[in-house]
Amino acid sequence: MKSGKLVIIGAGNVGSAILNSVLRLNIVNDIVVINRNQDKARGEVLDASHTTAFVYSANTSIRVGGYEECADAKIIIITSGANITQGNNGDRMVLLEKNVAILSEVMDNITKYTKEAIVILVSNPLDVLVYVAQTRFGYPREKLIGTGTLLDTARFNKMLGDICGVDAKNVTGYVLGEHGAAAFIPWNTVNIVGIAFDDFEKQFGLAEKIDKDKILQDMKTVGFDILALKGHTSSGVALSACRLVTAIMRNEKCILPVSIVLDGQYGVTDVALSLPCVISENGIERVLELPLDEKGQGELDHCVSHLKGILRTLTA
Ligand code: 2OP
Repeated sequence: MKSGKLVIIGAGNVGSAILNSVLRLNIVNDIVVINRNQDKARGEVLDASHTTAFVYSANTSIRVGGYEECADAKIIIITSGANITQGNNGDRMVLLEKNVAILSEVMDNITKYTKEAIVILVSNPLDVLVYVAQTRFGYPREKLIGTGTLLDTARFNKMLGDICGVDAKNVTGYVLGEHGAAAFIPWNTVNIVGIAFDDFEKQFGLAEKIDKDKILQDMKTVGFDILALKGHTSSGVALSACRLVTAIMRNEKCILPVSIVLDGQYGVTDVALSLPCVISENGIERVLELPLDEKGQGELDHCVSHLKGILRTLTA
């Protein structure tokens, strides 16, 4: 299946990684890149267009355009915004003011043309931006999706899969909450083909007990490790966005942990964070509530008050 228009806003490291990754999927037939610096966008599009000689995406149109292209888009991915840099001490919140301003300008332009497209948000601080984009612009809640802890979950599944010597795709375990400091892992729900986490040492012949605190900490800091090594992160987040594009285009109804403004899950409203969501051609069909134990509930409460505290500084 291949149809629909995808608009990518921002042609930086993440935008261009998404452009190149999505081309490999051969799943949309029209890709438009919008970028303030038009030459950079033209360069990325021209470069990417040559890859179609090697992969089966020959009928995909790739071009540079303006915001009017959003009018009939099926999906819009927003990558615009400043990125964390090495001086940021591992904190995405330093980008808050700058990226709220950039996002507001982008959403202002998008909503001149559509509130129908499914918007995927990638920029940081992710959950705050999802909240701002949805509430300030009255965007349909189920059509405003942040990649959120989908990336953290991929990192966690890879780490745990490596420890157990199995494919990351066989790990069922979610990182929830904030794409940031208040992310948490509901360990009581983590399993591999139904084998509960507490049985991993025995079942996978591990010499040592798995250190949960270390895994959580490593999962939270690994983005900053990548940043220190290569100057930015792009591959993981690009495939997180592409996973969502596939789920939407194929109407998969798969379950992915992504950021959405909550409307009563766990009794919470007025904040965006990641929970497992059913993704279809309409966006988010349903937000699921995992059975949290006492620790998980405490971590969710902490995450909610942490994010709400940040939102209060925004409106003040
Ligand atoms: C990441 O975790 C920087 O949020 C981005 O890769």
